[in-house]
Amino acid sequence: MGSCHVLHFSPTGGVLKAATALARGMAEARGCELEFWDLTRRQMMPPVFADGDVALLAGPVFGGRMPALMGERLRDTVQTGGKPVPAAVLAVYGNRAYEDALLELADWAGAGCGFRVLAGVTALAEHSMCRSVAAGRPDAADEAQLEDFGRKIAAKMQQPHAEVPGLPGNRPYRQWTPMPVTPVTTGVCIACGRCVMRCPTGAITIGKPEEIDPARCILCMRCVSICPVQARSLPEAAQKAIAQKLAPVAQVHRQNELFL
Ligand SMILES: Cc1cc2nc3c(=O)[nH]c(=O)nc-3n(C[C@H](O)[C@H](O)[C@H](O)COP(=O)(O)O)c2cc1C
Ligand code: SF4
Ligand code: SF4
Repeated sequence: MGSCHVLHFSPTGGVLKAATALARGMAEARGCELEFWDLTRRQMMPPVFADGDVALLAGPVFGGRMPALMGERLRDTVQTGGKPVPAAVLAVYGNRAYEDALLELADWAGAGCGFRVLAGVTALAEHSMCRSVAAGRPDAADEAQLEDFGRKIAAKMQQPHAEVPGLPGNRPYRQWTPMPVTPVTTGVCIACGRCVMRCPTGAITIGKPEEIDPARCILCMRCVSICPVQARSLPEAAQKAIAQKLAPVAQVHRQNELFL
């Protein structure tokens, strides 16, 4: 019966891992197929929604918000065409806080794209700027819990008069400005071009991978995480500042949450 469309923005894979577990539960309970749509791609075919389809929109928390680029890509490529497709939203964060991100994603999905948002989930993943924070998450226990959340969401989507849930967060959303830095490249770079191809914004110069346009870089950490020879990192001062900021939450074991 229909498809479960997973619309994800996952620069370093944490969002995708959590979204896959949640969607697996949804799809299993509905007996439907999964279809994945990668919003980090610079060009993406727009999904077409049929009767009986449902959706999961999943993104990472950046500064207590969702990445603005994800909002632009949703606005430009994803519309339900007047069908009130039932949807869940998922905000994945690195153990600090998610603040207004889940609410912002729900607003994009509902008022922006036309989905009927019936559930919200927040989940933990390794902090992509400091991978020792929430290391290994989502782990097997997280994945099992997210699958269970998915089954509960699917059951709610079956109810004809299901109500839209209240979600945590505030409007206007909190202000956030990213650190004014870009990743740096060392001499071990083998010029394989992987980072150039897969940068969500095209910020890295073709043929000169050490050159990053600071106006286009959203500091998503994709290039750092996919480099096969670990030639990229955040500047050392930025790494230190982030580790210091995250130190108070580094040992806390936060829980995934379901809002139905
Ligand atoms: C620029 C940036 C800002 C972030 N801000 C937050 C934050 O405000 N709160 C938090 O808990 N995690 C924060 N994180 C961590 C990410 O939300 C987390 O690692 C997430 O899993 C990243 O998704 P990905 O693995 O799919 O790339 C931030 C990461 C980046 C790169
Ligand atoms: S992915 Fe790494 S090795 Fe390949 S071009 Fe980029 S920085 Fe160089
Ligand atoms: S250059 Fe910036 S935007 Fe591009 S992949 Fe690297 S961190 Fe992300």
